[in-house]
Amino acid sequence: MTEDLSTVLEEILATARASQDRGKVADYIPELAGVDPSRFALSVVLADGSQHSVGDTDVGFSIQSVSKVFALAIALGRHGDRLWARVGREPSGLAFNSILQLEHERGIPRNPFINAGAIVVTDAALAGHAPREYLGELLRFIRAAAEDDGIHINDAVARSETETGHRNVALAHYLRSYGNLLNPPEMTLGAYFHQCAVEMTCAQLARAGRFLTAAPGMPRMVAPGRVRRINALMLTCGHYDGSGDFAYRVGLPGKSGVGGGILVIAPGRASIAVWSPGLNAQGNSKLGTEAVEHLARRMGWSVFG
Ligand code: DON
Repeated sequence: MTEDLSTVLEEILATARASQDRGKVADYIPELAGVDPSRFALSVVLADGSQHSVGDTDVGFSIQSVSKVFALAIALGRHGDRLWARVGREPSGLAFNSILQLEHERGIPRNPFINAGAIVVTDAALAGHAPREYLGELLRFIRAAAEDDGIHINDAVARSETETGHRNVALAHYLRSYGNLLNPPEMTLGAYFHQCAVEMTCAQLARAGRFLTAAPGMPRMVAPGRVRRINALMLTCGHYDGSGDFAYRVGLPGKSGVGGGILVIAPGRASIAVWSPGLNAQGNSKLGTEAVEHLARRMGWSVFG
């Protein structure tokens, strides 16, 4: 049964505030380790354009892997379906930063959202451009999608990951050894770390996701067929080895980031952003997942009917 949205949002906020187990804040990027775990925000933009938010919706956070959705839209815009020769479209069943599968699959990452796949997507999005030009385009895309020019990259976060992102360095060199990285690894990684360091508020992220709802009146950044495909990948791969569980519990496409943000799309109905910095064992926001599970159930939103 469809409930009144503002009542449901208040209910979710109260549950989140009372929660004892908030998960664990990511600390492998030192700059993220100091984020206050008690932060919580949830914002929903409906198909009629109205926005409804609760909690710390105006506090900026690092979107990290949520940026992979915007990068994919740009890379598909540049290369179309040729991109799929370099990266697969299957769930990985492994951690976001795993190197294991890459050897088995001879340098073709399983999907565009695990780190190896996202590094290939960023490499493809560079397409002969300097990282600065690509990052400028990425910001223009996100700002246009959100209709907000205040969105920026947090250089301290990018620097912090540049200094400590040894696994990603390994993945990039491994990809290069298979000929699936066209730019020097340091160059692609520089672009990738800055892309992950895009900072937004929860309210801004919900607006930036509107183009994926395909609802009339929402910004149209990519063709409708491509919107469907991006949503399909978010549903099947957006939460790494937690993707099946997220699809089961929430029933909507979503993309998480280790900053604790999740972008969730209710096609034709709403763009939803949630932020709670504590993560579960799969590196996805713990309370964020619980919050959108609650929201989807109470609103009757699901791609499965
Ligand atoms: O590459 C990394 O490890 C980070 N910049 C992004 C990882 C991430 O957000 C995984 N998502 N849950």
